[in-house]
Amino acid sequence: MSALTDSNLFQQLGLKHPLIVAPMAGGPSSAELAAAASAAGALGAMGGAYSNAAAIETFATQVRQRTDKPFSINLFIPHSIPEVAADRVERAVEATARYRQELELPSPQLALPYEEDFDAQFEAVLRLKPACFSFVFGLLPADHVREAKRAGIPLIGTATTLEEARALEESGVDAITLQGYEAGGHRGIFDAKAEDPEIDLRDLLAQCVGTIRVPLIAAGGIMTSGDIRAALQAGAQAVQMGTAFLACTEAGTSAPYRKKLLEMPERRTRTTRAFSGRFARGIENRFMDEMDGKPEAILPFPAQNKFTRDIRGASTAKGSPDFLSLWSGAGKGELWQGSAAGLIGRLFAE
Ligand SMILES: Cc1cc2nc3c(=O)[nH]c(=O)nc-3n(C[C@H](O)[C@H](O)[C@H](O)COP(=O)(O)O)c2cc1C
Repeated sequence: MSALTDSNLFQQLGLKHPLIVAPMAGGPSSAELAAAASAAGALGAMGGAYSNAAAIETFATQVRQRTDKPFSINLFIPHSIPEVAADRVERAVEATARYRQELELPSPQLALPYEEDFDAQFEAVLRLKPACFSFVFGLLPADHVREAKRAGIPLIGTATTLEEARALEESGVDAITLQGYEAGGHRGIFDAKAEDPEIDLRDLLAQCVGTIRVPLIAAGGIMTSGDIRAALQAGAQAVQMGTAFLACTEAGTSAPYRKKLLEMPERRTRTTRAFSGRFARGIENRFMDEMDGKPEAILPFPAQNKFTRDIRGASTAKGSPDFLSLWSGAGKGELWQGSAAGLIGRLFAE
């Protein structure tokens, strides 16, 4: 059963607007934001990567208490790595000792597991039956694809190159998010160790439209109705927007992060591996600047993500943006600070 390939993906999902308000794990995609986006006629999403099965179920219940409209759940495809060698951890501890001292944190203890149990997360998704299941960082294993199809849950994969899009199409996904280099947050590159292909959204769309047959969703730097129009004209069936929604009232974006996002005239962003070990785009800050100069002290993903969690948490608690991952896309312009419905209404006013 390929639920979405034959006609318009978004008509089939019953959406009023061809918009996915991006799954943003780590706080920004609150249940309030996902529900508000869905209630306003877009597809709201849960960024469930850092949540265990119980938290995913709680989130879905909270969304369903607020709206009966469809929403999606998003997870990271796991790339489990062996335990990181003690000398590498030691180097990482040394390189970050000053920050932990400034933040009054104890010495870190890094132990396996470095990430949530994917199979338990995925079973929660099967039980909850969201309108869509989306994922990043690779292919969903074939048995999981079969189980999702059996449960009638459409699948959306994420690609940063034509090759990744081809592999996703062959794996049986129903739609593909094309993530341009401009995108905020983690780059969806399949191989965590690979260099970034750095293909912007326009080029990626040009390469994939006409070649990839499943519906394409454009993501990366989309901020205005003009950007949406351009992506649809270039052949996308829908857009996925993250950064534009980060300052909405319902977003779970922390106070120091919000403050940085709203500092104008522009948000200076670049990609870094400093926070998680995987490339991700965010606003430049002290942690990124200093750690990028010490690549040998950055652990592989997802170990680095777990390793820096205490630093990011303490930075947030102190109200400091210096050690926080300030994920943001390269799109320019002031961010909307009203309701998500207000922003969606404005984006699709004509
Ligand atoms: C704060 C933040 C967190 C993100 N977390 C996720 C995530 O958990 N899963 C995912 O597939 N994409 C995630 N993304 C990427 C978005 O899906 C999307 O590709 C991106 O936001 C599009 O670019 P834009 O931010 O310029 O709109 C995140 C983006 C941001 C800004």
